Parts: sequence; C-alpha cells; structure tokens
Amino acid sequence: MASVGKLRAAEAALKEVSDGQVLGIGTGSTVAVFIGLLGKRVKEEGLDLICVPTSYQSAYLAVENGLRLSTLDEHPTLDLAVDGTDEIDPNLNLIKGGGAALTKEKVVDSSAKRFVVIADSSKLVERIGKFPLPVEVLPFARAKVMRAIAVMGGEPRLRDGGDRKDGPLVTDNGNFIVDASFKEIIDPRALEIEIKMVPGVVEVGLFVGLAHCAYLGDGAGVRILSRS
Ligand code: 5RP
Repeated sequence: MASVGKLRAAEAALKEVSDGQVLGIGTGSTVAVFIGLLGKRVKEEGLDLICVPTSYQSAYLAVENGLRLSTLDEHPTLDLAVDGTDEIDPNLNLIKGGGAALTKEKVVDSSAKRFVVIADSSKLVERIGKFPLPVEVLPFARAKVMRAIAVMGGEPRLRDGGDRKDGPLVTDNGNFIVDASFKEIIDPRALEIEIKMVPGVVEVGLFVGLAHCAYLGDGAGVRILSRS
C-alpha cells in the first residue's frame, strides 16, 4: 500500500500527461504508483502514449500496466519525464540512485523537455548530502574510485547485493554502486563534476539543474517546487 504522500505526488504528475506524449519513466516505489495510475488513465481514456523506461523495474511494470515502450534511439527527445528522488533541496538539486538506476535515469530525465520529480515530502531537505551519494562505477575501477572519493572527504562504501545476492550489488548496466557519505554537500555541481572526472566513474547521483518542478506529497496535500 503506497503512502498518501507518494500517491498525491503521483496524482499531481499524472495531470501533466496528455495524449500523444512520449514519456520518460523513472524508477522506484513512487514511480511505481505513477505507472499504475498512468496505466489506468490509458485504459480509461484511450490515450496514445509511448514510454521510455529507466530500469528493468519500470519497463516490466509499464508492460504489466498496458503501457507501450520505446527507446531513446527512436525518441531522443521526450515530452515529459517523471522520476522519484532520495533527497531534494529547495533549488531542485537532487540525490538519486537509491534504487541503483541513476545512470539511465540521468540520461532519460535530461532528454525530456520537462522533468518532474515526485516524492513524499519527507525527501525535502535544506541541504542535500545526508543520504549517501550513489556513484555507479566500473567494477574494474572500484578501488581507485573509492580512494578518490575518500580524498574528496567522502566515506565510500561498496553497495552490497543484500540477502539474496552474496557480494556487491550489480546494476542493470553490469556495474557496481559506491555509496559516498558526504554528510552535507555545499556545492552539488562542483562535486558532481569532480567525481565524474575520476576515471572509472560511470555516473554520479547528483542531478543539478535538471528538474523543472517537484510535487512533494503528504497528508496535508501537495507542495510544488518550481525552477525559477
Ligand atoms: C532509483 C531512484 C529512485 O527514484 C529513488 O530511490 C526514489 O525512490 P522511492 O520513490 O522508492 O523513494 O533514484 O535509482
């Protein structure tokens, strides 16, 4: 059962969808709620939509909900992308990658004319960084990247595969995730560039200057943050 905050955020984003659009579909539990609502609307209203997913999770869920999939090869520019977040600040800087899908999410979200974030309002923070920053790395470069992150003042940890997988988590792209704890991030853009410059880094879960709007839901309603 989805939290009321996630549901309200997803419902708000659904209002932005119109017939004929090509949509980027993010990853995570809030996006899962959105996909369910979107499938229902497509069925009820006979909308003609095309969806570009950011993970196996969102692709499979989209198909289960009767949505039509495509790729960035066929649709390099998307009308709208809808995605969740792990943290968001009032300037719409995001930390993403809690679900290890940050690389495809960044490619898809940045390909949209409009990128909308949906989240429970608990994700809103004054300054991002408490949530350990996910960094996707080539397995071969793991140790080198972790050392470089430590020099930058972060505490790097290789993400574990969890109960059902011994050893490191492997992403949809066949890579590892290093979660880098920085406590707080003063300059998200500078840190994004610094980490991205380390050879072996595939992508960084800092999304700076990408989101146009965020719908943050909770029991009281939906708070809207927009890029000024
Ligand atoms: C996946 C993500 C998700 O969007 C993020 O983890 C938020 O997930 P949820 O909606 O389940 O809180 O970045 O890589």
